Amino acid sequence: MKNYQSMDHFWMPFTANRAFKAAPRIIERAEGVWLYNDKGEKILDATAGLWCVNAGHGRTRIAEAMAAQAVKLDYSSPFNLGHDIGFEFAERLVKYTPENLNRVFFANSGSEAVESALKIALAYQNARGKKGKYRFIGREKGYHGVNFGGISVGGLTPNRKGFGPLLPVDHLPHTLDVERNAFSQGLPEHGLEKADQLENLLQFHDPDSIAAVIVEPVSGAGGVVLPPIGYLKKLREICTRHDVLLIFDEVITGWGRLGAPFASQKFDVEPDMITSAKGITNGVAPLGAVFVRDEIYDTVVNAAPENTIEFFHGYTYSAHPVSCAAGLATLDIYEQEGLLERASGEIGEYWQAGLHSLKGEPGIVDARNCGLIGAVQFAAPDGSLVGPKIMQRCYEKGLSVRAVGDIIAFSPPLIIEKPHIDQIVETLSGIAREMFG
Ligand SMILES: Cc1ncc(COP(=O)(O)O)c(C=O)c1O
Repeated sequence: MKNYQSMDHFWMPFTANRAFKAAPRIIERAEGVWLYNDKGEKILDATAGLWCVNAGHGRTRIAEAMAAQAVKLDYSSPFNLGHDIGFEFAERLVKYTPENLNRVFFANSGSEAVESALKIALAYQNARGKKGKYRFIGREKGYHGVNFGGISVGGLTPNRKGFGPLLPVDHLPHTLDVERNAFSQGLPEHGLEKADQLENLLQFHDPDSIAAVIVEPVSGAGGVVLPPIGYLKKLREICTRHDVLLIFDEVITGWGRLGAPFASQKFDVEPDMITSAKGITNGVAPLGAVFVRDEIYDTVVNAAPENTIEFFHGYTYSAHPVSCAAGLATLDIYEQEGLLERASGEIGEYWQAGLHSLKGEPGIVDARNCGLIGAVQFAAPDGSLVGPKIMQRCYEKGLSVRAVGDIIAFSPPLIIEKPHIDQIVETLSGIAREMFG
């Protein structure tokens, strides 16, 4: 039952508003890996919402924790007042972060986590007397949210163009190389040399002018772009050598997506900061966080005179009690169901085998995967854009996916089972044959 007359008033984000409103896809409820639409159809959520509902939909434990918290303490200011659940959540979170990242700055989204991390980087460089270090380095195809800092370091042209002037940023080349790496299982073999470009950029700008480098360990929204073997370690080594901070944007790769709490652990590379959001609350409540190396916190805080605010930054809803309650319940679920490691076990292998079985299907030029993330890349014989049509066809066949150009991206809930994977693979092969066979 609809309680509205018209769709005119909601300006939908990142959506073709006119096309959508002419042919809406309305989801009414969700449970487990399933979305249910207003036509009574059941749709497999092969992207865990927007890469966030890692423990699956309809987790009553999270809902109950949020309801209880809203009754007990709905809200209090996080500026100059505190509440136990904020401290409890921060303490619990750092049990999952790399060894030296034990300080948490809370925000409300991935975009805000990124803005906060960039500002922390500048505050740190200032606090240690390195005011000249003000530039950032991002990467092509990087997605770091939609605020001005995020689009500056981001590397997706449609998100950047028309919004300048942006921050002083240069970009590393992306690492997508379908020609050399098509159908790589796990991390691709070729492309380590692209990390050397960081050395060149640092020399070009002068390392003394660079505050931080920010990359997603695996680019998600840019089309599931995997780091070549050894690439992230090399970035770490170059940043350390030149006294430049390294930020991993783990808004997607965090919370079990790759089979470990964070990509940092999966790839054994410790950055100076990690940005997080999405799976941190299973997508049920908005919350973002920056995990910060202890020495960064100590430097910023100790540089300020006693009894003064050390970092002029924060949000009305930083550490919102209801979001913290959602987060704590989410961590309970992840732990009790072993979800943070699940992608590195049998289900991850089945996922890999399933996606790669699509090799040889018409129109498919690549399939790639790591943990429970993956992509299937299409190329139409006439060169036309087919991703949006494939996404629509998938929906009609009961599968929700995300198209990035001609790349179909997947990040299913970590509770996914083998028959669901079979359904994803069969749907894709069916569409490939129907459209290009
Ligand atoms: C890597 C990365 N960083 C930041 C963001 C922005 O997060 P939000 O949409 O919560 O602002 C996203 C969202 O997809 C993301 O994938």
